[in-house]
Amino acid sequence: MLNKDFSQILELAVFQVLIACTSETKIESYVVGGFVRDHLLGRKSGPDIDIVSVGSGIDLAKVVQRKLPGARPVQVFKSYGTAMVQWNDITLEFVGARKESYSEESRNPEVTSGTLEDDQNRRDFTINALAISLNKNNTGELLDPFNGAEDLKNGIIKTPLDPSITYSDDPLRMLRAIRFASQLNFEIESRSLNAIKENAERIDIITNERIVEELNKILLTSEPSRGFLLLEVNGLLEKILPELTELKGIEEIQGQLHKDNFYHTLEVVDNICPNTDNLWLRWGALLHDIGKAPTKKFSQKVGWTFHSHEFVGSKMVYRLFKRLKMPLNEKMKYVQRLVFMSSRPIIISEDIVTDAAIRRLIFDAGTILEDLITLCEADITTKNPKRFQRYHDNFKVVRKKIVEVEERDRVRNFQPPITGEIIMEHFNLSPCKEIGIIKEFIKEAILEGQIPNEYEAAYNLMLEKGNEIGLKPNEK
Ligand code: CTP
Repeated sequence: MLNKDFSQILELAVFQVLIACTSETKIESYVVGGFVRDHLLGRKSGPDIDIVSVGSGIDLAKVVQRKLPGARPVQVFKSYGTAMVQWNDITLEFVGARKESYSEESRNPEVTSGTLEDDQNRRDFTINALAISLNKNNTGELLDPFNGAEDLKNGIIKTPLDPSITYSDDPLRMLRAIRFASQLNFEIESRSLNAIKENAERIDIITNERIVEELNKILLTSEPSRGFLLLEVNGLLEKILPELTELKGIEEIQGQLHKDNFYHTLEVVDNICPNTDNLWLRWGALLHDIGKAPTKKFSQKVGWTFHSHEFVGSKMVYRLFKRLKMPLNEKMKYVQRLVFMSSRPIIISEDIVTDAAIRRLIFDAGTILEDLITLCEADITTKNPKRFQRYHDNFKVVRKKIVEVEERDRVRNFQPPITGEIIMEHFNLSPCKEIGIIKEFIKEAILEGQIPNEYEAAYNLMLEKGNEIGLKPNEK
C-alpha cells in the first residue's frame, strides 16, 4: 500500500515555508524525486528534498533561505542552474524545470528551460519522476504522468522515455537502476535491462567517484549479491571491477574442480550483512578472494592451489582503490589487512587452538581482530550441514579463547614491557641493531607463552639475551 497522504508532511515547517514562498514569488514549484518516492513507500528518506520550479529555482532558493531561520547562505551552481539551501539537517536542492539533451562524450547536458512535464520526462525512472505540487491552486496534488505510483506499487524500475535514450543520455543511470533494484527489491523492466546491456560500454564516461557512490549503496543493501549479479549479467561489472569477474568459472583438470570464487564471494558478502553495517568490512568481504585469479595453479600432486593469494590480493586492493579514486587512507589499509589476513583465523580454527596461535593472531590483527573473525565466519559457505556446523563451532572456540587469552596476556595493542631506552640504559648502548634483537626476542617469548607479559620476566630475559650476544652491563 502506498502512502498517498501528504497532509502531514506538508504541515512541517520546511514545507510551510516552501508553500508560502512559492505563492509569494509566483514561481510554480514542486517537490520531486527521491523524497516523494520514499514518502509513498513509507520509507525513511535521505536528508535531501528536491524542488523543481517552472522558472528560476535559484530565485526561489534565495527567498526560501531568508525565511528559514538559521539557514546557511544559498549555494548557487550557475552552470547547472541549481541552488542548495542547508537548514538544520535538511538539504533543499532547487532546480529550474529543464529540457535536456546530452552529448555523446560527457554527462554534462545542454540545458534549456521547460515545463514540469519536460522535466519529469528527462528524469531517470518513473518512480523518481513523481511530483507533489506546492502551488496554491493544487497544493499536495500528486503529478504522475508516467504512472510512477503504479510502478512503485508493483516494484518496477522503468524509464519515462525510451530506455536507450535515458541511459545513453546519462549512463550513470544504469548503475542507479541496479542500485534501486537492490535497495528496494524491485525488478528492472526487460526493455530497460536490454538497454543497459547495449549501453554498458558508455559507463566509461562516468567519473569513478560517482560509480563508487553507487557501488557503496549496493554494498550497503541487505543482499548485495542481487546488485552485483545484475551488474555482472549486464556487462557492467567487468568494466568496473574486473578483479571480481576474473574469479568467475569452475575449472576441471583430471577430475579435480575448484569452486567458483565469484559466486562464493557474493555469498560471503550476503552472509556478512546481518552482522555488520560497516561499509569497509563489506568491501573486505567483496575483495577477500581477488588474489585467487592471478595465483591459481594446478599441480598433479596437490590439485588446485592459490598460494599467497592473500598477499597478492592485498596488493590488488591498493591498485583497485587507486583506479577507482577511492580513499587511499586508513580505510584502504583496513581493507588490505582484512584481505591479507583473511585465511589466518581459518587455519587456526581447523587445528587444535593453542594459546600461542591465539596470542599471535591477537597481536597481528590488533584492532581488526573482531572484524576479521566476522569475515571468516561469513566465509563459511559449505552446503554440507555437518561441516557448516563444525566450522562455526570451531570459530566459537576461537572467539572464546581470544577472550581468555586477552584477559590474561593483554597482547592486543602490544606495548613491550621492556623499552629500547631500558635496554640502552642497562647495556650503555647508543641506538644499534642489538636493541631490536633483544626487543624481538622478548616479544617472541611473550607470544609463544615462554614468559608472561610482565616487566620482571621480560627484564630477566633481556639480561639473558644481552649476555648471549656479548653485551656488557653498564658498570655505573
Ligand atoms: N536524477 C536523474 N538522473 C540521475 C540522477 C538523478 O534523473 N542520474 C533525478 C531523479 O529524479 C532523482 C533526483 O534526480 O530522484 C534526485 O537525485 P538523487 O538525489 O541523486 O537521488 P534520489 O532519487 O533522491 O535517491 P537517493 O537519495 O536514494 O540517491
